[in-house]
Amino acid sequence: MKNILVTGGAGFIGSAFLRHMVAAYPEYNIICYDKLTYAGNVDNLLPVSDEENYRFERGDIADRRAVQRALEHYAIDTIVNFAAESHVDRSIIEPDAFIHTDVVGAYILLDEGRKHGIERFCQVSTDEVYGDIEVGFSVEDDRFLPNSPYAASKAGGELMARAYHVTYGMDIVITRGSNTYGPYQYPEKLVPLFTTEAMDDRPLPLYGDGKQIRDWLYVDDHARGVDCILHFGKTGEAYNLAGENQRHNIDVTRRILELLGKPASLIRHVPDREGHDRRYAMTAEKARALGWQRQYDFEDGLAATVGWYQENEWWWRKIKTGEYLEYYKRQYTERLASIR
Ligand code: NAD
Ligand code: DAU
Repeated sequence: MKNILVTGGAGFIGSAFLRHMVAAYPEYNIICYDKLTYAGNVDNLLPVSDEENYRFERGDIADRRAVQRALEHYAIDTIVNFAAESHVDRSIIEPDAFIHTDVVGAYILLDEGRKHGIERFCQVSTDEVYGDIEVGFSVEDDRFLPNSPYAASKAGGELMARAYHVTYGMDIVITRGSNTYGPYQYPEKLVPLFTTEAMDDRPLPLYGDGKQIRDWLYVDDHARGVDCILHFGKTGEAYNLAGENQRHNIDVTRRILELLGKPASLIRHVPDREGHDRRYAMTAEKARALGWQRQYDFEDGLAATVGWYQENEWWWRKIKTGEYLEYYKRQYTERLASIR
């Protein structure tokens, strides 16, 4: 492993992975390959932008020629695929981009990776492929029952990765992370949306009864988990990267408000997300056996995260303009109006 292409590296988790890898492995050349969609942000990479072992290349993973050029130009031997459309609510409004990137893009990366003799391909996937887990905990061999267009597209991408391993003998590993939170997360997801909205004393649109359960994982723990699986994962295998830290959405929301010193009256129970999964829960035993262990507990991780958004308004205020406001209006205006 020497020349690593990190796709989607300008996003939330991909940039945490890049910041970690660039510092931890000066002997690797690490190339970020990112289309810079609305969710991609070069500000996330400022901490590494001057490092010797880091390069940035703008490109779409579904653009075969651009992928070929990047693989050849940088003599890539390893690919870590974070690139995705990642927001469930957007996938409900308009699934097209999810099929383009999460399915077709993953396929093109795999196909070109195989043709260029890539030594290892790590596909970053999600606990959402297991679907709604009423009781118990998902383990890696459980069946897939994805419920949103996002979850189905991620399942498609990772099944293609599996097929490339079985059919062509490609060296593949897969990670399935749980709900990730931390600095540099685009403020459309629960934690950064509610933190930044509450800072401005705006209403927090909590879907349905707020009793849905998510398993929360701090972003640096997720990044180190992908590093661990990339280096030590057994070929052809998938690994859950679980926070093992399940919380009701309403409790996460209340805690954010407490940390900010804001009143619970900002919470609005708005009409639910369509097809909303009630609960995700996985065990991380298989990844633990390879030496991965999350380091942050939720209380510390959430306090650090909320503190980061308080200290870094320069980062998120400029995002909350233009396209973001269009999306916000489409997603929330009617929902919020319906409960007044
Ligand atoms: P994100 O939306 O913050 O970032 C996605 C990145 O991919 C952006 O930089 C974007 O510009 C880039 N991108 C999108 N389409 C592209 C394309 N066609 N070609 C090249 N680049 C493209 O996402 P995230 O939250 O950082 O998630 C990263 C990965 O981790 C995704 O694969 C996601 O499915 C997975 N995941 C996320 C979570 C979570 O809680 N956020 C949990 C488990 C797994
Ligand atoms: O579980 C892993 C997944 O976690 C990742 O694969 C996805 O990329 C990531 O976006 C995340 O998906 P969720 O749908 O769980 O995350 P989100 O932050 O959108 O929502 C978390 C919970 O909060 C979910 O139950 C929906 C609820 N929610 C979310 C938003 C944005 C609200 O109640 N109101 C909101 O406005």
